[in-house]
Amino acid sequence: METNQVNQVNVMPRIGDDAPAFRANTTQGPINFPSDFKGKWKILFSHPADFTPVCTTEFMTFGRMADEFEALNCQLVGLSIDGIHSHIAWLRTIREKIDFRGMKGIEVKFPLIDDIPMNVAKLYGMIQPGESATSAVRAVFFIDPQDKIRTIMYYPLSLGRNFDEIKRVLIGLQTVDNFGVALPADWRPGDEVIVPPAGSCGVAKERVEGSDKDLHCYDWFFCTRQLSKEDVERKLGK
Ligand code: BEZ
Repeated sequence: METNQVNQVNVMPRIGDDAPAFRANTTQGPINFPSDFKGKWKILFSHPADFTPVCTTEFMTFGRMADEFEALNCQLVGLSIDGIHSHIAWLRTIREKIDFRGMKGIEVKFPLIDDIPMNVAKLYGMIQPGESATSAVRAVFFIDPQDKIRTIMYYPLSLGRNFDEIKRVLIGLQTVDNFGVALPADWRPGDEVIVPPAGSCGVAKERVEGSDKDLHCYDWFFCTRQLSKEDVERKLGK
């Protein structure tokens, strides 16, 4: 594994930064990240260790949902401070032996990075020594097709992530980009979306609302419009 950046435990990439580049070995062969995935969304995520229970439930869930992320033009890339042989043995155990909540025979086809030297984990601020100096926390980086970091999640070792929320965030970011809107709390496709206030271009709120039946203003600073689930799904290629 090589990186093009200085390794520091405390480097924390931020939202809006270019995704730090690296080369790594994975269960699917060597990768250059992010350049191998040009034009795609990327979710780079870490887990603390192979052959641990919470991580196993997470991998089974991500493995089961992999086609849904693929349909959203999103490449999943996993990482832990373990080597290739451990990764391969763990993924085989998951596929051949684990039957959890109706999930069985789950084949994980996305790359899982060998990061024994912790180079990538340090580059992405996945080592948080107050939690663990030797394992990555549960980090999730959402990286857009222009290779910018758009959302970051950090979870502790003991709490499994919510994969519906990870998918909701991806769909939300793609909706923001495709429709030029903002999204309210708990938004899901089909819910109203936030648009610039009706009077913000010097046009009276009443006139704009009157000419657009889909527009609703709660106050001078807060307007929404309808955006159907079908329109979102059509645009996102689902
Ligand atoms: C787990 O995945 O079960 C786990 C990993 C590291 C610390 C605690 C739990």
